[in-house]
Amino acid sequence: MSFTLPTNEEKYQYVHSQFERIARGYDLTNDAISFGMHRLWKAKAVKILLNSGADQGNSQEPRHFLDVCCGTGDLALRIASSLDKSDKVTGLDFSNQMLEVARARTATASFGASLDWIEGDAQNLPFEDDSFDGAIISFGLRNLTNINLGLAEMRRVVKPGGLVINLDLGRPRGPVFAPLFSFFFNSVVPFIGSILQQDRKAYTYLPQSMSTYPEPEQITERFELVGLTDIRHLPLAGGSVALHHGRV
Ligand SMILES: C[S@@+](CC[C@H](N)C(=O)[O-])C[C@H]1O[C@@H](n2cnc3c(N)ncnc32)[C@H](O)[C@@H]1O
Repeated sequence: MSFTLPTNEEKYQYVHSQFERIARGYDLTNDAISFGMHRLWKAKAVKILLNSGADQGNSQEPRHFLDVCCGTGDLALRIASSLDKSDKVTGLDFSNQMLEVARARTATASFGASLDWIEGDAQNLPFEDDSFDGAIISFGLRNLTNINLGLAEMRRVVKPGGLVINLDLGRPRGPVFAPLFSFFFNSVVPFIGSILQQDRKAYTYLPQSMSTYPEPEQITERFELVGLTDIRHLPLAGGSVALHHGRV
């Protein structure tokens, strides 16, 4: 299948309509293409977020965390499940269809902290400065037209001392694993997408989007550029996933 990446001008609308289309089957497909491992990576990211907040979790003050590009709410639900009733988690996404799935997941069960879902752009967050104890984005940064702006917005809305975390695809290394991963990502993932979602195009965009996404070392530089400090990069799954965190 021939594929052309959207231009910068087209990207926002392109990504938006793609997630509106695939929202219903997103979670199932996500499990299939990551062999369920996204759950382990997210659990690790949540642990880092909750153990290193602005107040290290020792204060009696209610805590408030932000999940940017929350999608169907997977990560926000995990964070909320580890917090108290007085705490709060906000999930933000620009796809109403993805948020509809998140809302349906929270309609019938409670998850510790209270949750709210906001429709909005990650590059123009509708929150005051210093509103959150920490902010996280998972598999979302790659989709933004302006990555620096997305990171700068997360930094802006997090209180001094809080963490900004990014979990996204990395660059697998090694003479065996790297080509194997490339084959899986470029051939098997679009095939799975065409079977489970009847949407080969969306799951062809996924590997293609890596070609314009910075390498992990450059993501570290972007963290520095927006003023984050104490930056760490943790390669996961043989480097195919990269977890970055930095402090405000
Ligand atoms: C690959 S999904 C990740 C969802 C979730 N964080 C997860 O890890 O399962 C990317 C999400 O980013 C959202 N997104 C992309 N660009 C966005 C933007 N500019 N503002 C807000 N959300 C955006 C999409 O709608 C989609 O739900």
